[in-house]
Amino acid sequence: MDTKQAAVSLRNITKTFGSVVANSKVNLDIRKGEILALLGENGSGKTTLMNMLSGIYFPDEGQIFINGKEAVIKSPKDAYALGIGMVHQHFKLVDVLSAAENIVLGMKGKLNMKEICAKINDICQRYGFEVDPNQKIYNMSVSQKQTVEIVKVLFRGADILILDEPTAVLTPQETQKLFDVLRNMRDDGKAIVIITHKMHEVESLSDRVAVLRHGEYVGDMLTQETTAQEMTNMMVGHSVTLNIERPNPVNPKPRIQVSNLTVKNEEGITKLDDVSFTANSGEILGIAGISGCGQKELLEAIAGLQPAENGTIFYINDDSSKEELLGKDPLKIQEMGVTLSFVPEDRLGMGLVGNMDLTDNMMLRSFRHGHNVFTDRKAPKELAKRVVKNLEVSTPGISTPVRRLSGGNVQKVLVGREIASAPTVLLTAYAVRGLDINSSYTIYDLINQQKKNGVAVIFVGEDLDVLLEISDKILVLCGGKVSGIVDGRTTDKNTVGMLMTKVGGKA
Ligand SMILES: Nc1ncnc2c1ncn2[C@@H]1O[C@H](COP(=O)(O)OP(=O)(O)OP(=O)(O)O)[C@@H](O)[C@H]1O
Ligand SMILES: [Mg+2]
Repeated sequence: MDTKQAAVSLRNITKTFGSVVANSKVNLDIRKGEILALLGENGSGKTTLMNMLSGIYFPDEGQIFINGKEAVIKSPKDAYALGIGMVHQHFKLVDVLSAAENIVLGMKGKLNMKEICAKINDICQRYGFEVDPNQKIYNMSVSQKQTVEIVKVLFRGADILILDEPTAVLTPQETQKLFDVLRNMRDDGKAIVIITHKMHEVESLSDRVAVLRHGEYVGDMLTQETTAQEMTNMMVGHSVTLNIERPNPVNPKPRIQVSNLTVKNEEGITKLDDVSFTANSGEILGIAGISGCGQKELLEAIAGLQPAENGTIFYINDDSSKEELLGKDPLKIQEMGVTLSFVPEDRLGMGLVGNMDLTDNMMLRSFRHGHNVFTDRKAPKELAKRVVKNLEVSTPGISTPVRRLSGGNVQKVLVGREIASAPTVLLTAYAVRGLDINSSYTIYDLINQQKKNGVAVIFVGEDLDVLLEISDKILVLCGGKVSGIVDGRTTDKNTVGMLMTKVGGKA
């Protein structure tokens, strides 16, 4: 390979953390005017490899060439000086500062805020961003925060741009907007690397893909000349089937009955409007809807975390007796067997404690039930072992602090913990956010397993194709109202899509 043609050439890069080999003798070129998708399973070393370009880690071995010249990158400052900018999997912005203040944070010399804002506006115009330089970070949505991260990198003159799972936190509309911007940058001659687990994004955005497996570089190919199946096989190292089974419901009986449920948020805005439906045991009820149309409030209301203005939510026991869930203590609802597994956008921010190890994180659950933390270690240890095994969590052991795991492995722990708690009702939202494709299918299997065990599953997901494959019934929400309830086996994408935007819906 000719190192002069590439913006970046990595040669024989190795990086270890104790006994963990995160990258082993990796050779990779990143070219100008090209969008490269960096693929690999959770824990395969994608973030680590890119962190060596952005100055967060220093390689144990190997060489880095930038525009054909060997470079030593010891700090993020060195990286900026070489024109490399990275937008991280977990944002690194200071909440109380404004966009402009964050963008220039740590820069030396005299800073003229007026000039800075003008330059920010220039960058925004050039690439099609919308950023208010004076807005404080804590007032921003995730997608706005991400935009600030990208503008920050461009402000500092980056022409090699690395984005680590940027769309994990974006809605499909925001994703499209981001992709348009990235295409503009590519056409401007910038070298772009995107890490993503979503195959349709790889196919629609990237020019070339490069695959890592267990820290090693396996190969690259032109996106146009490959398929999702081939890329997945390369990532996993053997042929995998990307099929979701849909077993027939066994003896379904009403388990959760929601009637005329109306929920308002703290600002008094109606998030759920007169919603009625029944979820059966041994069935998967998929919830479809564009982001923010009430999915979260619905699951939270059932779990006792959301007060309602009106309506009832009954839990129906095996003997057909009914118990009202509204107004009940969430812990009591959990004890009835109702488990909520909601994967937040910031996966480390909720549900897991980064400095604690796997076992302790499993214990958070039993701890909430009032068991003694210091004597009751056996069960959580077993649960931790089971989650690691079933979901192939890549970790040196169950006593490794969670923050040392890769992003996707953190999440497998979180979801595994919830699903494994053997409930009668499983409320699950965004279960595969940030998971590699193989793990995603393992999660779908686990959810199906719960269904076969007779659990009533309410499944909120972002991927309409998956929803259509896994659900027995699909309830479509539009602006907080039920716009339709359709049969998952007979409906199609078009019908559900129209109901999501109310066209043809009766609401
Ligand atoms: N600071 C660290 N200390 C110890 N181990 C680490 C550290 N950072 C990463 N690792 C380990 O290195 C390996 C590669 O992790 P990395 O975060 O690069 O994976 P990834 O490909 O980005 O995965 P994901 O898709 O889940 O984000 C994993 O086994 C991870 O646990
Ligand atoms: Mg990562």
